[in-house]
Amino acid sequence: MIKDKNIVLGVTGGIAAYKAVEIASRLRKVGAKVHVVMTKAATSFVTELTFREITGNPVTTTMWGEVANWNVEHIALAKLADLVLIAPATANVIAKAANGIADDMLTTMLLATKAPVYFAPAMNTNMLENPVTQENIRKLESLGWHQIEPDSGYLACGVSGAGRLPEPSAIVERIEDHFIDSDSMKGLKVLVTAAGTYEPIDPVRYIGNRSSGKMGYAVAEAARNRGAEVVLVSGPSALKPPAGVRIIKLESACDMRDAVLAEYPDTDIVIKAAAVADYRVRNVAENKIKKKDEELVLVLDKNPDILKELGQLKKPNQVLVGFAAETRNLMEYAQEKLQKKNLDMIVANDVSKPGAGFNTDTNLVKIITRDSDVKELPMMDKKRIAEVIVDMAKEKLQEKCRG
Ligand code: PMT
Repeated sequence: MIKDKNIVLGVTGGIAAYKAVEIASRLRKVGAKVHVVMTKAATSFVTELTFREITGNPVTTTMWGEVANWNVEHIALAKLADLVLIAPATANVIAKAANGIADDMLTTMLLATKAPVYFAPAMNTNMLENPVTQENIRKLESLGWHQIEPDSGYLACGVSGAGRLPEPSAIVERIEDHFIDSDSMKGLKVLVTAAGTYEPIDPVRYIGNRSSGKMGYAVAEAARNRGAEVVLVSGPSALKPPAGVRIIKLESACDMRDAVLAEYPDTDIVIKAAAVADYRVRNVAENKIKKKDEELVLVLDKNPDILKELGQLKKPNQVLVGFAAETRNLMEYAQEKLQKKNLDMIVANDVSKPGAGFNTDTNLVKIITRDSDVKELPMMDKKRIAEVIVDMAKEKLQEKCRG
């Protein structure tokens, strides 16, 4: 939990520095102790006094302060931090950090700290997309830093594109996630499936669906945040897999079945958010099918029902969670799947509602357990829904293990 954790908030000199005030305020509201380190450039955008009032702590802006500041000098702050957040992170601070340059209080503290570091790049799109910046970001990520990816939208420089600092609420949620019961699933293996499958027609065409992978990737992230060993079996998706999860990428339902069954025997919890194609093309053409005047008839064979197979093979101490994507009779169809496929829980989403289902950031779900408890959630961000699903699955496992 984030309560009483020491967060060192590094504020650098970008126009988005004003948003750091709200970040500091929100962090304090959720119970964190916030210590702000500002670069010299940041003080041109926001005053030190603002942060001092908001956080109730001294604000550090220079290496060469009064002796009264000894208790917040760079080594002390580096040691004190449970987590360091740099928001906004300019191209300049990212470049310095990636190259070990320590020429002010913030960069010196960054070099000295062993705490996890989150950074939220915010800058002009061209600067962000510049290969040098991208290489620096990748380098920091490869060293274990966590990037809070910039949003796209209207930028202060008058153009629209990637480079906006995400909303303070989203940044603070990310930081809260870091502290969520980070050990509560330690020792457990969680297998998550995500995104849709592609069923080939010929070398260039396929039958697919609109699943983006957002729901499944959020589930994988939530389990990872709780300390589980996570295997994410994913159909094609444009998303970046959460750091620290083992990703298995594939395309077809048959390949997904093989991957899932291979991982299943020593898995504690399976959460199947993937939208698996129910049918595949019988005779996949070896070469690209040429357009002809007559109609094209494809014969489709039924794909294996992976979830059903898992239900049949399920051991007493395994928890199996399915999803149901329905446009009508949501509860009836979901209940039917829960029973027929021997699931412990099913997440029923009404994909006919705007903002819910395929390729949206939010979802509208009811979670039904085998003992017919129904948890109805309001329209929520998929990341928050994922947390509820993972926590419920963990409780089910605990119940089973207690016998
Ligand atoms: O990826 P997003 O864009 O974020 O969208 C999320 C989602 C809408 C895809 C997700 O929330 C969701 O509902 N996933 C399940 C979609 C689906 O295929 O539902 P279904 O009712 O057809 O399948 C029921 C369950 O059986 C699912 O757990 C599915 O993974 C599984 N299944 C289905 C067919 C099959 N051949 N094998 C399976 O294992």
